[in-house]
Amino acid sequence: DRPVLAAPRKTIPFGAAVRGDALMADAGYGAALAERCRLLVPEGALKWPVLRPNRETFDFGDADRIATFARRNGLGLRGHTLAWYGGMPAWAEAITSRVEAEWVLTGHIETVVSRYRGFIGSWDVVNEPMPDDPASPQDLRSFVWTKTLGAEYIPIAFKAAHAADPAARLVLNEYDIEYVGPRFAMRRAGILAIARSLLDRGIPIHAIGLQAHLFADREIDRDGLQGFLREIAAMKLDVLITELDVIDVGLPTDVAIRDEIIARKAADFLRIVDEVIPPSEVLTWGITDRYTWVPIYFTRPDGTANRPLPLDSDLRPKPLMNVIERFTGSA
Ligand code: G3I
Repeated sequence: DRPVLAAPRKTIPFGAAVRGDALMADAGYGAALAERCRLLVPEGALKWPVLRPNRETFDFGDADRIATFARRNGLGLRGHTLAWYGGMPAWAEAITSRVEAEWVLTGHIETVVSRYRGFIGSWDVVNEPMPDDPASPQDLRSFVWTKTLGAEYIPIAFKAAHAADPAARLVLNEYDIEYVGPRFAMRRAGILAIARSLLDRGIPIHAIGLQAHLFADREIDRDGLQGFLREIAAMKLDVLITELDVIDVGLPTDVAIRDEIIARKAADFLRIVDEVIPPSEVLTWGITDRYTWVPIYFTRPDGTANRPLPLDSDLRPKPLMNVIERFTGSA
């Protein structure tokens, strides 16, 4: 007789993006986050336009409130994000000199990362460096840091983050990585090229973040994605799922059917990733359909509300929540 041993149960920390204003105003929302999550990531509170209304000021109000909530509830915190084109304040976007750009970027990273040293466990140091449709893997999205510093903005940012908190896990985060088509293959090649170049130069990077804003009706490139993940594994980097949600703009109106398709899409994606590298963390971009970015860009033609997240707008778990709990071992 073979001894019956319980399989070692994997548990992967699960978390969600959080909005500081909602946390203050909505007790049910805070309770749901505390109940379901082991870690949080501020959805906007650590971004440049919030932290840096002007050159002289750092406004940590919203980020500190979220950090306090996390601490009180025994939750970990991720940091998002240090170098990203999205919503850069006009005063920073106006910088034209190389020296000034390096000074402002490194000064920002030093101040923000050291404030949460030892508490924020991982940082999205560089977010979305690839253009939507890159011409080559070397192509980078154009914004103030590429205009002034070129591709060097990336190593500069990683070095500054490491100096400010040597224990923090440093992440290169990107979206539209998983689908079929040449533009997605080029985006994967670009992310691998950035990671490889950092490692070749001895600059610390610890993980690739797959945002995973999954379009329910787009085909995932299983071979392409797994090939990409094998390259990441060969570089001894971790993989994080950083912003999972399912965009349901093209799905039927029926809520039960829709929720099943959404859950299945996420389950397929997680399985494809897991077959190559079990992700070290899984985060959704919000916990409840009550607070989601999706309708801003992907309003449904039938006028019904989007349902991209694990809990519905009344904070009840949906099939997507079950998928995540089963996958992360928190069920
Ligand atoms: O807080 C103000 C509110 O006072 C005002 O009434 C309202 C009117 O427009 O705007 C509110 O701020 C908006 C904020 O979302 C609310 O959460 C900002 O205008 C809006 O720009 C901001 O959008 C965020 C977007 O990034 C840009 O920073 C989304 O919430 C956030 O989900 C989204 O997150 C990104 C990740 O950072 C990177 N990956 C993609 C992801 C989704 O687009």
